[in-house]
Amino acid sequence: MNKDLRKTVIAGNWKMNKTRPEAKALIDEIKPFAAGSGCEVAVCVPFTNIETVVEAVKGTDIKVGAQNVHFEKSGAFTGEISADMLVETGAEYVIIGHSERRQYFGETDETVNKRVKAALAAGLVPIMCVGELLWEREAGITEEVLARQIKLDFAGFAAGEVKRTVIAYEPVWAIGTGKTATSEQAGEACGLIRSVIAKLHGKAAADAVTVQYGGSMNAKNAAELLAQPDVDGGLIGGASLKAADFGEIIKAAGK
Ligand code: 13P
Repeated sequence: MNKDLRKTVIAGNWKMNKTRPEAKALIDEIKPFAAGSGCEVAVCVPFTNIETVVEAVKGTDIKVGAQNVHFEKSGAFTGEISADMLVETGAEYVIIGHSERRQYFGETDETVNKRVKAALAAGLVPIMCVGELLWEREAGITEEVLARQIKLDFAGFAAGEVKRTVIAYEPVWAIGTGKTATSEQAGEACGLIRSVIAKLHGKAAADAVTVQYGGSMNAKNAAELLAQPDVDGGLIGGASLKAADFGEIIKAAGK
């Protein structure tokens, strides 16, 4: 599998952090690190920050994204935002199926599937999150869990749609815990995801799809994780809120 066939994407997930002035200050600090980095840099920010950050990154290559999207075009879905509404704000990426949404907001593989489909139809790049829980890893079923998620989340998709999706492998036990998967564990799981895609959607899609690692990625461990042949970038939480740390990760990815 040739890494050069794929886009390396370093994306920050700001989660529910930053007021508008704080968002503006942080993105201004991040900008110099992204210039000429050799990888795609995106920041997925709270809905209320999207327009502020889109305005601030004008003239740079930094992409802006959201952290959720609804699958219907419009209607009685209180609190939700449609893909077209996101496009209108200038967002180009959207995180879908993050484990926090699965855990706290009842997101299922069925709704992830629908949301990814809607995002692609609107021209957004979905960052679709998958990953096993700690007890699933300890029970030795990581492979089955990932295969099941990939199968269901991409059910009914054409190879061309799979190719346009970024997948984030985020072992749930590594998120916000300071516990990172070893580079071997991350590489192995990302490779597994790619092999499931090859089987279901063909080798061309598997070769082209970007598979990120996420879970306590930081300035210190990024280079080793990103050196794995099947790891094509990172989805970064905590460390993406510190410009210098996020900058180090961007630098490691651009090498
Ligand atoms: P941390 O980098 O804070 O562990 O979060 C990872 C994550 O959930 C990114 O989506």
